[in-house]
Amino acid sequence: MNNHQVCSIDHAKSLDNKLRGIIQNPNKILGNYINKGMLVIDIGCGPGFFTTTMAELVGDKGKVIAIDLQEKMLEFLKDKIRGTKLEEIIITHQCSERSLELSAEADFILAFYMVHEVPCQKTFFQEVKSLIKLDGKVLVVEPFFHVSNRSFQKTKEIVSNMGFEIIEEPNMFMCRSIVLKSKS
Ligand SMILES: C[S@@+](CC[C@H](N)C(=O)[O-])C[C@H]1O[C@@H](n2cnc3c(N)ncnc32)[C@H](O)[C@@H]1O
Repeated sequence: MNNHQVCSIDHAKSLDNKLRGIIQNPNKILGNYINKGMLVIDIGCGPGFFTTTMAELVGDKGKVIAIDLQEKMLEFLKDKIRGTKLEEIIITHQCSERSLELSAEADFILAFYMVHEVPCQKTFFQEVKSLIKLDGKVLVVEPFFHVSNRSFQKTKEIVSNMGFEIIEEPNMFMCRSIVLKSKS
């Protein structure tokens, strides 16, 4: 069953810890998609478990836009990177529930464990399409137990109808995941 409840700030620490790093190693998950100097976006970044690795991968000539609708999640991330060189690379952006309220041309977009929380996936993927370069890639990962196979099939239908091609279905432990590229 999908539900549209937004993940509470109380879960920030359980999303951002060393044990998770063993099961979901951000370098292994993202390393093939992100290069130095890229502009990348972490949508629904939460406490920034993936954001900091994205920043290390793009390096000081790249940028990461970390988007979340909850100010407290963005504050958690800002506290984590305060005083480090990552502060120069990561831009935080608070959006609203119904719109990302951003314009950009990104090389790569991550939406990890967040799509099931958005109120309208059609609107969401339309916005994602407007933010990604023609040759850019979008990695969507959903939690296996929280998002049924049926719901994920629905997401796949939506992205196909929005002009995305599914170019990969990476194997990730306890996850359902797809990599998207614009059809043209
Ligand atoms: C389960 S957490 C995952 C956080 C992070 N991606 C991770 O894997 O650690 C989902 C995050 O998505 C954010 N979120 C939910 N709906 C959103 C929306 N419509 N736009 C932006 N962020 C959203 C929530 O505030 C929350 O921080």
